[in-house]
Amino acid sequence: MLVSPSLLSADFGNLERDIALMNRSSCDWLHLDVMDGVFVPNISFGFPVMQAMARHAQKPLDVHLMIVEPQKFVGEVKALGAKLMNVHYEACTHLHRVVSQIHDAGMEAGVTLNPATPVSVLDDIIGDIDLVLLMSVNPGFGGQKFIPHTVEKCRRLRQLIQQTGSHALIQIDGGVNRQTAPLLAEAGADCLVAGSAVFKAANPEEEIHFLKNL
Ligand code: DX5
Ligand code: ZN
Repeated sequence: MLVSPSLLSADFGNLERDIALMNRSSCDWLHLDVMDGVFVPNISFGFPVMQAMARHAQKPLDVHLMIVEPQKFVGEVKALGAKLMNVHYEACTHLHRVVSQIHDAGMEAGVTLNPATPVSVLDDIIGDIDLVLLMSVNPGFGGQKFIPHTVEKCRRLRQLIQQTGSHALIQIDGGVNRQTAPLLAEAGADCLVAGSAVFKAANPEEEIHFLKNL
């Protein structure tokens, strides 16, 4: 299992320390949650803060944009040195164009679905993308309760990927912990995002280790 801890739950007063902890851990990527107060009812951090994060991070950056008009920021995400730029299906009128812009910038393209958005909207884009992120909470806040329906949705997405021969990875974000993660592994998830489960744990490295071994 790939593991991408969300820095949204890190101690923002000690970011260098928390990123160093992630560098030492067995996590695969670092998940950066960008919120604009418009697409979601919260604001997290923007590019100046992420540039500081990127200076310390030794793991590939997985940037989850919970913002309207994400296509405006392809250049900024690229400048961070990000591996993957993740945009919401619900925020992109011309999704195919945005995916092409991300690829042209030399990054991998991820598409995120809110809990009420069905997997079937991906039918005509699944062959062109590198990752699908299924939100297992309504985006905007860390520490929310996992929506159980996501397990079934993950199974359906796995089927779509198999049927179409797509190489897209399945990532799940929201309420991932020791109870919910095994269900997602069984349903075919490739990558788990975890915020509070990692950073609020007594031993974050042990938590990451548990998720990695699923
Ligand atoms: C929620 C964010 C998540 C969040 C997950 O809008 O996209 O990445 O940090 O936090 P937990 O793991 O605490 O649910
Ligand atoms: Zn996220």
